[in-house]
Amino acid sequence: MSTLTKLALGMMGRLRPKPAKGEGAPTIKLPPSRKEGGAPLMVALSQRRSDREFAPRELSLQTLSDLLWAAYGVNRPDGGRTAPSALNAQEIDVYAALPSGAYLYAAAANMLHLVAGHDVRSVTGYQDFVDEAPLDLVFVADHSRMSLVPAGQRESYASAAAGVISQNVYLFCASNDLATVIRAWINREAIADALGLSHDQQVLLSQTVGYPKS
Ligand SMILES: Cc1cc2nc3c(=O)[nH]c(=O)nc-3n(C[C@H](O)[C@H](O)[C@H](O)COP(=O)(O)O)c2cc1C
Repeated sequence: MSTLTKLALGMMGRLRPKPAKGEGAPTIKLPPSRKEGGAPLMVALSQRRSDREFAPRELSLQTLSDLLWAAYGVNRPDGGRTAPSALNAQEIDVYAALPSGAYLYAAAANMLHLVAGHDVRSVTGYQDFVDEAPLDLVFVADHSRMSLVPAGQRESYASAAAGVISQNVYLFCASNDLATVIRAWINREAIADALGLSHDQQVLLSQTVGYPKS
């Protein structure tokens, strides 16, 4: 769908998901993430960049597991995560919009839970590449987990936490020859609707991931 069409549909409140490609399983048990491999950190930092052209090739479940763990997985026995959060509120939820449906990443269980049995990818941003890239992540803040954070600071703290998660994704991609771009040019209302979010949940950013086109 073109950007202009999306903008028009968005203005009319009619930017909606497409039918899913295949039947999304209600839950997906991810394979254990690999904690080795990929390019070293300094090489990944040298190669980090935003890409906006993606091949349609799907990501394997193993790559998805590795990517989500790098993004915001549990990396310590006490439940600590690969990205920090103010007062350890862990207020960010990572949603994965796949061709077969949209899923919530359950980090502790290393599972995906289906939240929408549609192809939500085209709703995750105005730019046309989001429709065909194999994965669009959505970072959502759950304000109900931030009761210890002063109300006036909640949005900025959550945005900072989402930014760190995004950089984890950037570095994973740079380290594994994947392409990615973080996106704020999104229709937050349409995404919230498509994912069935509650009033406590705030859509912050989306990030496309896939194989580079060339
Ligand atoms: C908060 C934020 C929002 C962004 N939103 C978008 C966006 O909506 N669409 C897009 O194509 N790129 C977006 N970008 C990516 C920037 O355009 C990109 O990082 C910048 O051009 C520098 O390029 P580089 O990432 O390759 O260094 C965003 C970046 C940040 C940090």
